[in-house]
Amino acid sequence: MNLFDVYPLNDIEIVKAAGSTVWDSNGQEYLDLYGGHAVISIGHTHPHYVRRLTDQLNKVGFYSNSVKIPLQVALAEKLGKVSGKTDNQLFLCNSGAEANENALKLASFYNNRKKVIAFKGAFHGRTSLAVSATDNPKIIAPVNETENIAFLPFNDVAALKEAFAAYGNDISAVIIEGIQGVGGIREASVEFLQAIRTLCDQYNAVYIADSVQCGYGRTGLFYSHDYSGVEADIYTMAKGMGNGFPIGAISIASKFKPWHGMLGTTFGGNHLASAAALAVLEVMEQDNLMQNAEEVGNYLITELRKFKEVKEVRGRGLMIGIELPEELSAVKKNLLFKHHIFTGEAKPNVIRLLPALNLKKEQADHFLERFKLALKD
Ligand SMILES: Cc1ncc(COP(=O)(O)O)c(C=O)c1O
Repeated sequence: MNLFDVYPLNDIEIVKAAGSTVWDSNGQEYLDLYGGHAVISIGHTHPHYVRRLTDQLNKVGFYSNSVKIPLQVALAEKLGKVSGKTDNQLFLCNSGAEANENALKLASFYNNRKKVIAFKGAFHGRTSLAVSATDNPKIIAPVNETENIAFLPFNDVAALKEAFAAYGNDISAVIIEGIQGVGGIREASVEFLQAIRTLCDQYNAVYIADSVQCGYGRTGLFYSHDYSGVEADIYTMAKGMGNGFPIGAISIASKFKPWHGMLGTTFGGNHLASAAALAVLEVMEQDNLMQNAEEVGNYLITELRKFKEVKEVRGRGLMIGIELPEELSAVKKNLLFKHHIFTGEAKPNVIRLLPALNLKKEQADHFLERFKLALKD
């Protein structure tokens, strides 16, 4: 059997990893500023993480949600504390798409409505409703097509107000990334997030903060939406949550009341996944990783803005987009194959930096030196 060939691959096999360094099968070392799509939050093979997962595996790796799993309770407590949302409730699942799917479903159960507002440039995942709320017709299969999603321009308060005035009582939810990731590292304005909060309150719609990529401490705040000073009703998360172990979740405001069977999953919140997520939060707390993300991120953003070749540097903390002109479209490839630095990309010509939150200043400096060379390659 062959693999179903849906991924364009770089001809590199990673065989070893530690912190923000990875090695390929030829022994070549790379600086990892991508963390495999923003997933590696506390660094590859972090000793505390490896120990906690190994210990857990030696006790019990999995049992379903039909029995008590105290690790889930400990995770809910810790996540509530670290994110500053101690009154919220936690539902655990397995991925970002699943988190958004459950958030949209919960909103619809809550207000018994169907319409969802999403935004141009949004990416919310590939499951049925999450992909329908994603602004990319190429990946929406006919069976996912629905009239229930309306795409509005990003950061356009007037268009949002108009939509609510026209059909506000049909709107179940507004879903928005605090910083669009796949869309090219574009930040929602404070004014826009405040308008979403006000209109959702006015019309009893649900504000869903997709924090799958921009959340979990990456920007220096736990949820990137926090900088706006408004609270969402549901926060969705995944990626950095398990440092590579598949886990997703939604943090749910206390006004939502659960009933048995309302949401569910076989694997979500299993023993190993919960241990992985706890290990991540423990390291984040012990090593002040949100502060490091803010400091090293600010440093990188400031230094990158000094390059005259760069069109624009966007983002916050360690979620950074470097927009380059068309003639420098080879820089990303050169960074990987000549300078041995992993970065991400967004269309049309944006380099995305999504490294581990404990990236060191020396590693940031190494990147800046190499980036300077890559601009001249
Ligand atoms: C903002 C955002 N939401 C949702 C998802 C989907 O997450 P997953 O791939 O874990 O389903 C992604 C993935 O890139 C994302 O960036």
